[in-house]
Order: sequence, then C-alpha cells, then structure tokens
Amino acid sequence: MPLTEREAAPDPASLDLTDPQTFLDVDQHAMWRRFRTESPVHWHPAGPAGPGFWVISRYADAVAVYRDNKRFTSEKGTVLTTLLQGEDSAAGKMLAVTDGVRHREIRNLMLKSFSPRVLAPVVDGVHRHTRELLGAAVESDRIDFVTDVVDHIPMHTMGDLLDIPAADRPQLVEWNTRTLSRHSSEESEFESLLARNEILLYISQLAAERRAKPGDDVLSTLATATIDGKPLTDDEIVLNSYSLILGGDESTRMSITGGLIALAENPGQWRRLKSGDVTSDSATEEILRWTTPAMHFGRRALADVEIGDRIIQAGDVVTLWNASANFDEDVFTDPYTFDVGRTPNKHVVFGHGPHFCLGAFLGRVHVNAMVEALRAMVAEITPLGPPRRLYSNFIQGYSGLPVALRAEPAAEEVR
Ligand code: HEM
Repeated sequence: MPLTEREAAPDPASLDLTDPQTFLDVDQHAMWRRFRTESPVHWHPAGPAGPGFWVISRYADAVAVYRDNKRFTSEKGTVLTTLLQGEDSAAGKMLAVTDGVRHREIRNLMLKSFSPRVLAPVVDGVHRHTRELLGAAVESDRIDFVTDVVDHIPMHTMGDLLDIPAADRPQLVEWNTRTLSRHSSEESEFESLLARNEILLYISQLAAERRAKPGDDVLSTLATATIDGKPLTDDEIVLNSYSLILGGDESTRMSITGGLIALAENPGQWRRLKSGDVTSDSATEEILRWTTPAMHFGRRALADVEIGDRIIQAGDVVTLWNASANFDEDVFTDPYTFDVGRTPNKHVVFGHGPHFCLGAFLGRVHVNAMVEALRAMVAEITPLGPPRRLYSNFIQGYSGLPVALRAEPAAEEVR
C-alpha cells in the first residue's frame, strides 16, 4: 500500500535543519507542508550546531517578521550559521547585517548604482552574454549547463558592476562557491572561511586602487562616497562590495539552472513558453518561485513577540523559510504545479521589507535573459543524467547538470 503523504514526510520534531544532508534526504515539499500544517511556528531543539531556534514556515508569518526590523534585528546574523554562532563579523558594516540609520544611508547610496536606468548597459550585457554562451552550447552534443554556461553569467555581471578584471573572474566564482555552499560534506567549514578571506583580500586590494584612481563602477562609488561629509570606512567599502558578489552570484546561478530543469521536466510549460502563450516575465517569476535558491534567512528577536500561538522571546533566533513560504497553499493556488503563466505570483524569493534584495532587478534580468534566449534559440532540452545537488542548509540548487540543447533552426537570427 502506498504511504500517505503524512507518513512519507518526516515528523518536524525529528529533523535537523542545521544539517545540509537533511535537505538531500527528504522530499522538501512534503516536509514543509507538514511543518505548515502541524507546527507552523516550530521550536527546533539545540544540537551539535548550536542553540535551539524557531522555524517559521508560513508565508504570512515570514512576511511579518521580514517587515518588522524594530523587533527583529539582522545585526546578529541572517543565516543559520551566523545566527547560531550569535554574531556576524560584518554586523553594522555590511548592508544585510546592519539595521537602522546606517543601513538606510548605505542602502540609499548603493541604490543609485542599481536603478534600472543606470543598469541599462549591464542588462544589455547580460542578454548578449547569455545568447553567446547558449549559442556555443547548442553546437555541442553534450554540455554541463552549470559549468559550461551558467557559471559564467552572473559573476561576469558582478565583474562589470565592480569592474573586476576578466582574468580574475573564474577564480572569484570558485571562491564564492566554496564560501556559500560546499559541494559535499568532505569540504570543511575551514575551507569556506579561507575562501571568504581570499575574496575580502582581493577586494580590499582593488578598493585601494580605485580610491586612488576611481572609475564609474560600484566599487569606486563606495570608495569615494561620503555620508554627512565623511567617507565610508575601509570595512564598509570592502564588505559591501563583497556582498554583491556573495548575494549576486550563486543564488542567480541556482535559479537559472533550476529553471532549465523545470522546463525540461514540464514539457507542457516549455511549449507554452515557446508558443508565446506566456510572457518571459511571467515565466521568470515562476522560475524564481519554483527554485527559491535562498531557502531561509533569519533574525534575532529584540523583544517578546507572539506569532501564531507561540511566544518568541527576546534573544531567540528566528529562521524564515522562503522555501516553504513560496509553496504556502494559503497564498499560491496549486503551489506544487510549475505554471509559467502563474498570476498573481507574490513570492518572497527576494525577501520582503527593509532588507528586500538590493539586486532583485538584476536577479530577474538574469533569469529573464535565459528564458528569452532558450525560447529563441533552443528547440529541445534533453537531460543526459541526474543533476548534482549542492550541499547546503542555505542555498538550494545544482553544481552540475549534463544536458543536450538542440538548436532552434531559426536561432541564427537572434545571435
Ligand atoms: C538581500 C535573495 C540576487 C544583493 C537579499 C535577501 C534575499 C535575497 C532573500 C533578503 C535577506 C534578508 O532579508 O536578510 C536573492 C536571490 C537572488 C538575489 C534569490 C537571485 C535570484 C542578488 C543580486 C545582488 C544581490 C544579483 C547584487 C547585485 C543583495 C544585497 C542584499 C540582498 C546587497 C542586502 C540588502 C539589504 O540588507 O538591504 N537577497 N538575491 N542579490 N541581496 Fe539578493
């Protein structure tokens, strides 16, 4: 007799969400559905990784916490690793882990470099670069979509934003992957720390050059800006530049890759896209929801707060699971259906509220560029083996995807 879904999904109380292996072992949709229905504000007990913490899985509760930066701070970390350590060394300096006035000042400064108007040439570059890479891919019988195509796109964009020399970019991709989501359990935390330090050192050398000889890039903007007549500190310049690489590269790559898999697994949706039945914008939003690369973010409570029928106490760690919220049946009709025409589609892939992703526009541009290039240049997507999953409790996605992309006969015109 087949197991009912409830029997198949593990009991929330038995799961260790700090362990990356958990996310490889369980059916996540079934797991989160059980959290939402049985324990939507769940206390995760302490374990080898650190103290206990709250697990928020419903959309409405996650949005409420994201919005409330008075009672929930980002300055004690925003991802499980730092939250459980009790601190983030970049707190008060890097946007994502800074609250209050300084957060607004630095965010406003950086926003100038992120308006759609200023980014127009960067956007053109993303589309052009995506088409070039896909053009090469369709000429081959077998590619690895991650390493041959996707790995080369967002870092190139961040490279343009920060004006990083082309020769250094592959090394940055490698460091970044090691920092965020180790490929397997064999690679140690220490490795990932080393990689992070390499990136910081690299950027600080570049920042020193830019201060002496500024250009039009974001790094130069940060290196020469003043707030109330005072320049940013070295740490603020380096960490905020780093946060663009950190935030912009891997999650974007994971959405693009997951999008290709979803289109391959849902031929009906692929046909809707190809036929022009849906816009590339709506397909982009659904790919973002479907893939939700940043599985969680989190906060530390500054006051006692009631959520559902539970009391979060001042000092408690609260994790917000986008990977669950984006499939909450109270908000999304048929959440487990990949529907490229889905509307409305108010996902929280980019978070919500004061810390809403600074790079959301750019993230969307990347996915959209791939959707449009696939539609115009590829006739058929054929997976040639299982994708290789990332090992992480924070980012979900793939580090390898063998596939054949058959060229659309009319594709020559769009290159
Ligand atoms: C913040 C996700 C792309 C830079 C965030 C947050 C999420 C997120 C959920 C909120 C974190 C929180 O509330 O604690 C994503 C996803 C992306 C993406 C899923 C791709 C699909 C980018 C890109 C950039 C970027 C392309 C840079 C160019 C940032 C920065 C913040 C942020 C700087 C901090 C904003 C603040 O604290 O005010 N991102 N992001 N992200 N993201 Fe993204």
